[in-house]
Amino acid sequence: MGCQMNKLDSELITSQLQQLGYHTTNDPEQAGVIIYNTCSVRQHAEDKVISKIGQLRRRRQQQPHLVLAVVGCMAQRLGQQLLDDYSQVDVVCGPGRLHLLGPLIQQAQQDRQQHLALNEKNSPDQMEQFDASRTAPDSKTPCRAFVRVMRGCNKFCSYCVVPYVRGPEQSRPLNHIFEESRRLVDNGVKEITLLGQTINSYKYPNGAATYGLADVLKKVHAIEGLRRLRFVTSYPTDFIDNIFQAMADLPKVCPYLHIPAQSGSDRVLKAMNRRYTAGEYLDLINRARELVPHITFAGDFIVGFPGETEQDFADTCFLLEKVRYKNCFIFKYSPRPRTRAEKTLPDDIPANIKRQRNLALLELQNNISLHDNQRFVGATVEILVEGPGKKPHLNLPRSSKDDKNNPDIIPRSTDTDNPAVQLTGRTPSDHIVVFNGPASLIGSVIPVKISKASALTLFAEFSPIKPPFP
Ligand code: SAH
Ligand code: SF4
Ligand code: F3S
Repeated sequence: MGCQMNKLDSELITSQLQQLGYHTTNDPEQAGVIIYNTCSVRQHAEDKVISKIGQLRRRRQQQPHLVLAVVGCMAQRLGQQLLDDYSQVDVVCGPGRLHLLGPLIQQAQQDRQQHLALNEKNSPDQMEQFDASRTAPDSKTPCRAFVRVMRGCNKFCSYCVVPYVRGPEQSRPLNHIFEESRRLVDNGVKEITLLGQTINSYKYPNGAATYGLADVLKKVHAIEGLRRLRFVTSYPTDFIDNIFQAMADLPKVCPYLHIPAQSGSDRVLKAMNRRYTAGEYLDLINRARELVPHITFAGDFIVGFPGETEQDFADTCFLLEKVRYKNCFIFKYSPRPRTRAEKTLPDDIPANIKRQRNLALLELQNNISLHDNQRFVGATVEILVEGPGKKPHLNLPRSSKDDKNNPDIIPRSTDTDNPAVQLTGRTPSDHIVVFNGPASLIGSVIPVKISKASALTLFAEFSPIKPPFP
């Protein structure tokens, strides 16, 4: 569950356990070890895990050799309490101690005791080993990989649990980031996404000077065989023009910024301890547009923050319209234990108002995306083909009777050795593209022509061009 940082951790856990002789199964009933990698960012994320742990109580009793591990941010937040409240849980391991998870699971299998490992104050060397332990890209998405650039966060936004569960900000050594990226590219990775909670704050000492994010981009960009480079998430201060300049100058760096605003009201931003005003945020967006051709933005917003008035919400709607994001993630405020907002501000916006504002903002963004995506219709875009699409019903042959009039159906390839399936890919601007083509295209960068656009998806036609593609 949770963010891309967790997804990366799950990949690293898989790789660690494979090196110890374990393998994954597609049938949860067959599993001898079950690991939940958890998120604590909203109560809902924690509730889901608690319910899953509850469902496993009987099975754990019936299968005494089963090992249940709860790891990640919620494991860190609840620690010993999880072991005390749920006797079926065998291992609890925080996100800063995952390098120990394999041995802890082996120990639990042998001694049938509960085991706890929580983050310690600075153990960056051990955490470096965890990142460096990855031998190959994830088997499900072998053409794309995440690489951690920073751990933790120092910003302490008043609503957010991340600094408490992931610990203080740490930038990884530039040569480690480079070596890990190079190894992944040598193993077939075409696109790397660099990860950090506030990635534009990256700082690593270089003699008397300091490396910043622009230096990381330049260094990784130079890796031969890499086609695309992305980075997330950016914090709206801490930006210097040299990052935008690197984005403009380095052709593999995608012109895309995930840059959460959280609110468009200065009063709410202040209460959230975000360190900018809506005006400063807009100036930054405009500066990025000036310097980086064709740049697109994704945002995060929280609705129903304590004390949010109709006017505050209207200010958020105004910001959304001004920026015209490609897409936005919109969340209802959820008070998190230990955070400043939870301790000092009453959660006073009723659930139905939070829901209404959430829906209203989603609809506004949907209209913006739908409108702006029309500009792609008729255009040829370059995509990295990532894998099979999610809706296999689109794969019906064109002759089947219920799809004749369905405009979503795209003609299939006539290549009988390589029959067409539904595939998805992304443009450099991070727009999702769906099309029908041969599965052999997965992992390649190809041009496709957009025939239709919805708010979330572009639909394309693929006409085979003799390789090599441009
Ligand atoms: N580091 C990133 C975000 C990490 S958390 C950043 O600062 O931009 C991902 C998103 O979850 C946040 O951007 C915020 O929109 C949302 N979020 C965090 N805490 C929340 C809370 N208590 N309630 C609701 N949404 C929250
Ligand atoms: Fe949380 Fe703020 Fe840090 Fe993002 S910058 S992880 S929202 S504290
Ligand atoms: Fe990510 Fe959730 Fe942890 S958003 S950092 S997994 S609390």
